[in-house]
Parts: sequence; C-alpha cells; structure tokens
Amino acid sequence: MEIAHTRNFCIIAHVDHGKTTLSDRLLEHTNTVAQRVLTDQHLDSMDLERERGITIKSHPVTMLYPSKNGTTYKLNLMDTPGHVDFSYEVSRSLAACEGALLLIDSAQGVEAQTVANAHLAFGQNLKVIPVINKIDLPGANLDLCLSQLEDILTIPAEEAILASGKAGIGIEEILEAVVERVPPPRWSDHAHTRALVFDSLYDSYRGVIAYVRVFSGEVKPGDAMLLMSNGNKSEVKEVGIFTPKMEKAQKLAAGDVGYLVSNIKDTSEIKTGDTITLAQRPATEMLPGYQEVRPMVFCGLYPVDSSDYEKLKAAMGRLRLNDAAFVFASESSVALGFGFRCGFLGLLHMEIIQERIRREHDVDIISTYPSVVYHVVTDDGALREVDNPVNLPDPGAVREIREPTIKAAIHIPNESMGDIFALIMEKRGTIDHTDTLDANRIMLTCTLPLNEILVDFNDRLKSITRGYGSMDYELGEYRQAELVKMEILINAEPVDAFASIVHREKAEGKGRELCGRLAEIIPPQMFKVAIQAAIGGKIIARDNVKEMRKDVTAKCYGGDISRKRKLLDKQKEGKKKMKQFGRVSIPSDAFIKVLKTN
Ligand code: GTP
Repeated sequence: MEIAHTRNFCIIAHVDHGKTTLSDRLLEHTNTVAQRVLTDQHLDSMDLERERGITIKSHPVTMLYPSKNGTTYKLNLMDTPGHVDFSYEVSRSLAACEGALLLIDSAQGVEAQTVANAHLAFGQNLKVIPVINKIDLPGANLDLCLSQLEDILTIPAEEAILASGKAGIGIEEILEAVVERVPPPRWSDHAHTRALVFDSLYDSYRGVIAYVRVFSGEVKPGDAMLLMSNGNKSEVKEVGIFTPKMEKAQKLAAGDVGYLVSNIKDTSEIKTGDTITLAQRPATEMLPGYQEVRPMVFCGLYPVDSSDYEKLKAAMGRLRLNDAAFVFASESSVALGFGFRCGFLGLLHMEIIQERIRREHDVDIISTYPSVVYHVVTDDGALREVDNPVNLPDPGAVREIREPTIKAAIHIPNESMGDIFALIMEKRGTIDHTDTLDANRIMLTCTLPLNEILVDFNDRLKSITRGYGSMDYELGEYRQAELVKMEILINAEPVDAFASIVHREKAEGKGRELCGRLAEIIPPQMFKVAIQAAIGGKIIARDNVKEMRKDVTAKCYGGDISRKRKLLDKQKEGKKKMKQFGRVSIPSDAFIKVLKTN
C-alpha cells in the first residue's frame, strides 16, 4: 500500500474519559476485530490494567479503512498510557504518530491530563483532532467543553467531533477525520533506514519483541540492525504487524507500525525511544527525543516471610524483563532481614509492581517508606546521589542537600481553593500562577518537592475536592533545602527501616508520630524500652514501649507437662522471627504493622 494512504494516530485523554472504549469501537467498525471478541475491552490486556482501568502498556493496532473518498487507508492506532508516571512512554508513542484524537469526557470537561497530553501532542507537531466523548450521558455539557477547547487548549471549537464510544455515535466521522486531517507519514524521504522503538515486550521463547515505527527505508528478517544509542548490533529474526494479534510480515516499510524480533534477549538492551538503523548503511542522526529513563522513586521491598526471599528475587527478575524502567538490587535491613532496594518511575509504577509481585507471583511483601533521589554535596565538594536515607553521610560531612521538585498543574473547583492552598503550603509548595478554567474551576500551576507528594498528596487532593480535583506534573529542577536524616532508635539502637530524610521543620512532628505508633504496636516488654527519634544524635521525640512481665505458661494451671512444653516450643519458634535491639527482642511483624499503617 502506498505510504500516502497510511495514517498513524493515537488517542490521548484524561483517565477514564473513554479511550479504551472508543478504540474498541474503531476496531469493530473497521472489522479488525469481530464484535463478539470485543465483549471485554480489547486493548487493555493485563488483568491489573483492567481492574484499575489504567492503560499501562501501549498496544498498537493496524486497521484497514475504506474511506468515503473511495480509497482504502491503512490506519495504525497507538494506545497510549494516560498516567504521568508513564509520560516518557506517552511521548514516544506520540512521536510514532502524525495525529492524535484528543478525547474529552463531555460530563467532566477538560482536566489536568487533557491539558498535559494536548501539550505533549503539540510538542510533537501532531495534528490534534478534538473529540467530545460520552455525549450520551445525561450530564453532558457540550457548550462548556467547546468553550474550554478554545479557551484552555486554543483549538477552534468547530474542529470538534461529538461522539460516544459506548453508544457508537460519531465513529465514522472520527475515521474520516483521521483520513482527512492527519498528514501521511513524515520524514519518509530520509536516505537511510530509521525506526523508532516506542515500546518492548519480553517473550520467553522469542526474547525481546520491540514495537517500532519505521520512518524511512525498510527492515526485514536477515537484516543486520544497529541500535543508535549504544551501537549494539543484532540480527533481525522476524517482523510483523498487530491485527491486533502479532502477524508475521515480509518487511516493515516507511510509515509502518509493527514489531521486530532480533536476537536481543534483555529488554534493558533495547530502550524505548532508541532508533534502529541498518548496520551496512547506518543513518548518522537518531530520531529526535531519546532520553535515558531513570527511576525517580525508591523503596525497600522485603518478603514478609523470610523464606520467600528467593521466590521474590525470581519474581522481580521476571518483572524486570518486561519493564526496563524497574530496577532492583539486594539489600538487608536490621529490622526486616534480606530484601531489595527498588527504583520506580513514580508512585503508580511502584504500586503496580508491588501488586503484581503479590498477585501474579504470590509473594507477600512489605515496603519501606518511599524516597526520592537526593543530591548530596559533601564537604569535599563532591556530589553524591542518595536514594536510601540510611546512606546519607553524617550531618558533619554534608555541605548541602538538594531535592527534586515537580511542576504541577492542579485543576480544582473554586470552592476548594482555600483548602488546596493550605495543602500546598503544608507540603512546602509555592503557587506560581492561577488560571480560571471556567465559572467553577481554576488551574493552579505550582512547584512542589517530589518527596512531599509521595505519600498522601493525591488522596488528600481528591478528598478535599470530593473527587473533582486532578493533577498532572512534570519533573522540575533540584533545589537546596533544609533536609536532615531522622533516625528512630529502639533501646538506643537505630532501626534502619524507619530512617527518613525530612525537612528540619517537620522532623519533630513526624518523629513524635512515628515513636507513638511504634510504642503502640510493639508488644509490651519485660522492662522499660525507649523509642526515640533523633537527628544527628540529638533526640527530638520520645515514647516508651509498655512494660509487662509475661509468663507464657501462666495460663496452664494444673500440671499438664506436655501442654506446657508445647507452649514453650511455640515461644521458641516465635523467637526465631524476633529482632534483637540490645537486650530487647521485637517481632518483625511489629515493624511490618507500622509500615503497613502508613
Ligand atoms: P484509562 O485507560 O483508565 O485512561 O480509561 P479509558 O480512557 O480507556 O476509559 P474507558 O474506555 O475504560 O472508559 C471509562 C469508563 O467510561 C467506563 O466505565 C466506560 O464504560 C465508560 N464510557 C466509555 N465511553 C463511554 C461513552 O461514550 N458513554 C458513556 N456513558 N460511558 C462511557
């Protein structure tokens, strides 16, 4: 098929604005997938994705569409992940297209991710086609959506298509608009073969399967390919397209979207955003926009039952094969035993990996408090990256600590303004400007330390705004801040799992809270045990574990010796899971409980 008859596009939207439902409708309308197969949403294949309704991995699909102008077009649809943690993946999927359908839920209007995604699409020079979706809803407010399109996104309202994925309204019109408005594949006249890797998948038989968009030239089995970011060479074994199943093809040519299998066996060797060229006649310039993806949020993950260590390690290895953005290395903790330090793109990414370990690999795990990556300038002027509070050098040896910040766009109803301002202040943020979205909503652009939004920011934003608030962010710069390492001591010994890096002004409150919680959860001890929070050896908060004399055999009146022995054995067994702090033994599950109640 001629390249002039190919269109590559994607659908971008705020979470839940109906992207998957509409994609399915397009597949059905073009007879790509029979209707009965579509009973369940077709593009989101992972269980967890379905449950959370969040698209994590992007799956492209090739459709054939006989247009009203008499020509049949090849339409490649890219499904993009909607969440900020995956914004680099979104931007690479967009880079593989020439156009984007921008969905707006007619009952919700423009939201934080609508704006963020629209800007990503403009940034890639895509033709944006606005679609006001779910118009079948009784609460649809078309006038509002159309005026928001013009005011917030500066897209002329007359370009909008009114649609409903669920009721099947506007589907033909959308397909026609893709054909008419989205330009044919760009950069196809470049002299050398260049293909963009926009995702990859690990298959236990075939190794890494790269999802690619060929911009110029062609690639076929037997070709020697070259990855431009690192110069690695490999042989192409198979290429094909998604229908949506993988279907072998003889070659992928300029404008095509499909998959490529080579003898690369590890996903970390073929990175999203990289450019594939041919080893014999290599291109000299990569396709634009490649970045190394770096984990931003770290935490320790430990098996609740220490005998699950190997099982956990194997589970992580398998997850990593499919997700080069997830990193892990072994570490050990006094309180929690042997486990792993893990790095993630963001909080959602962290939650998803933890959930998959529990669910797909059946290992019960506990995570320590998440931490960001700090830049620590030591006395000799050297810069160190610290992702685990335990590794922060002594206060005496630190000249300066810098923390990562984010630039956030927060959409809220007017009436929540006061409470949200207070929340942002509490989280050490600053409001850079305020824009009115419509009569009822405003958008705040603010700068916040990443560390402060890790735990409960989004939950509190949602609860203050009764679910109507939404946030999107991008990473900002590193800034110097008055940060200190706070340690928790039990019987004067530090408990590594509770060490944290906190702002000096917040240390005391946080220390008191943590000591109180530990005092409540740690079982009564034979003698007085102090729980203290300290900064650089100086105690800032203190609490005590309850005292109690406990005789496990006390309940056994009478002289049943076998029953007594049983109880003593049971106690001995219990001791194995105890952690020793000086003269004090504390069961590991007490720590686990404290970490869980966070
Ligand atoms: P994410 O993958 O989480 O970004 O969600 P999504 O944008 O893919 O949305 P999805 O298609 O999963 O739809 C979200 C919810 O809206 C589901 O409960 C759908 O049934 C519903 N929905 C989708 N399209 C329509 C529509 O046109 N009309 C109505 N009334 N509901 C719709």
